[in-house]
Amino acid sequence: MQISFDYSNIMASKIGDDNGLKEDEIFSFESKIKQIDTLIREHKVEGADFLGFLELPYQKKEDIHPIIDAANKLAEMSDIHVVLGIGGSYLGAQALISALLPAYYNELNREKRNNRPRIYFEGNNLDPDSLGDLFEMLPQQLPKDIHEAFTVNVISKSGTTMETAISFRLFKNLLKKIYGKEHNNYVIATTDKSKGKLKNLSDIEGYKTFVIPDDVGGRYSVLTPVGLLPAAVAGIDIYELINGAKDMADRCKTNNLLENPAYLYAIIQFLFYQKGKNISIQTMWAKGLEYIGYWYDQLCAESLGKDEKGRVPITAVNTRDLHSRGQQLQEGGRNIVITNIVVQNFKNDIPIEPTDDDLDELNYLKGKNVSDILHSARFGATRAYTEANRPNMDIMLEKVNPFTLGQLLYMLELATVLEGYLMEINPLNQPGVEAYKKFMKEKLASS
Ligand code: PA5
Repeated sequence: MQISFDYSNIMASKIGDDNGLKEDEIFSFESKIKQIDTLIREHKVEGADFLGFLELPYQKKEDIHPIIDAANKLAEMSDIHVVLGIGGSYLGAQALISALLPAYYNELNREKRNNRPRIYFEGNNLDPDSLGDLFEMLPQQLPKDIHEAFTVNVISKSGTTMETAISFRLFKNLLKKIYGKEHNNYVIATTDKSKGKLKNLSDIEGYKTFVIPDDVGGRYSVLTPVGLLPAAVAGIDIYELINGAKDMADRCKTNNLLENPAYLYAIIQFLFYQKGKNISIQTMWAKGLEYIGYWYDQLCAESLGKDEKGRVPITAVNTRDLHSRGQQLQEGGRNIVITNIVVQNFKNDIPIEPTDDDLDELNYLKGKNVSDILHSARFGATRAYTEANRPNMDIMLEKVNPFTLGQLLYMLELATVLEGYLMEINPLNQPGVEAYKKFMKEKLASS
């Protein structure tokens, strides 16, 4: 079940020379790509110390077992699992869980959740309302049973990130109030192997820890315990996720562009950016994929937005956003490139039944399913964009499952790195995120 990439609607032959790309333009990059690919594989690029994500699809089953064991234990101990982390220490896990669990998962009873806990994400903001509201839902004294009990997975590579550290202090204090010293049974920390405040604190308190490898940066860490542990707690088959990533990694070993979706995607985005198309919309044609979009927004923005360069990535969910962004995509500035992430088959399908009175005049849809209407809307949007000479391309997932998502995540990571090197920037650092912290700390110290 390999994902496929259809870029026919970005070609000049379809949307004209002013807005489209010509085949020879794309394929003229073949030797440049070969050169960058070799430099990446030989770790001779700037930022090479953070290329460890390339090897994550090849991690062994034995390396993943401890994650599954710990996840199963957490699932047995409590019915509420709180994941604390931000940015790269948050979005991958949230993306997997939103895509692969039922839409209203936390509302289901435990049996319908396959005896896995409800999952809540915090530590990803400084919003006292959402943090306080979750805190209020938690027991303030010894829980009667696992339905009341909660566990915490705190994720921070540096161990110093303000949002995560503040929220962890709150949850840790509550666990300490309830369990005293034994509270350490209810906490797992995912952090650096030897340094940082979280590692230090974990050693002192006796928390079980998982390691974020030195050579993997936050936004490239979804296939480490950062993404794998929360996914496994929720019962997601993380072997299949890794298998999917491996399938894509193997597929992208070729320098033949036609067979390498990651490199082809990178070149297309790079060429459009060079031509002034500096906004890229990733349209998710499934609600569950919204956080895959936000995960990619971060990957792209933090990797490519530097040295006064970098396209602006934006996530949309259709058909919802046809009613908000659709107008602009159809008739707004010509600086936008659309990527559709398409799901071909959904796990549910809902037939549209006729009614006797047909008051809503929908009986003409008899025999169709909701997915048929969605696919027709996509057909309509694609045709309308193409006829208006708006570049649009499709990444197609036959189904949403761990195997296809593993492929998609790895394809986008690899494409982003290649695009960064085509832009002659280092896609693996993020020096700009420090700037505001200095002023924030000054403000805190002075008030
Ligand atoms: O991609 C990145 O490096 C960042 O988004 C980090 O993941 C984010 O800032 C969180 O950092 P940490 O894991 O150190 O708390």
